[in-house]
Amino acid sequence: MTDVNVIINEKIEKFGKERQALMPILQGIVADKNYITEDELLKVAEALDLSAADVYGTATFYTFLDVVPRGKYVIRVCKTISCHMAGKDEIIEALEKTLKVKLGETTPDKKFTLLQANCMGWCHKGPVMLINDEVYPELTSEKAIAIVEEYIAK
Ligand code: FES
Repeated sequence: MTDVNVIINEKIEKFGKERQALMPILQGIVADKNYITEDELLKVAEALDLSAADVYGTATFYTFLDVVPRGKYVIRVCKTISCHMAGKDEIIEALEKTLKVKLGETTPDKKFTLLQANCMGWCHKGPVMLINDEVYPELTSEKAIAIVEEYIAK
């Protein structure tokens, strides 16, 4: 894990001390450890001279910027219309059974978090899930379980 001040300074060097540095900083922190704390949001606000509410609003508006601790692998099943019609509910059910958690929860070993997300732009190949940055299209329940089992074995 990188010190949050190091990430902030790196991004400020690259993007300047302006608002345009906000997203890269938030993304950099989340990429490093999968979520961002309130304390870190305050540090970001201070560094860019923005209000805490502004920074918090940006972080929570983009649901990919997690403000609570997540598992090492964050699974996001697309919930938008095409994937919904293509059977995302069965995928979620299969993953809930395999991981023994409900949607929104993290496994006790902190390895997996199961979430839903909005359209990922793979609508013609639904149902789709993301595991961290990896896209898995054209899922069936069996396929989703097999993919997750590979991660369990890692
Ligand atoms: S509706 Fe699921 S990827 Fe677009």
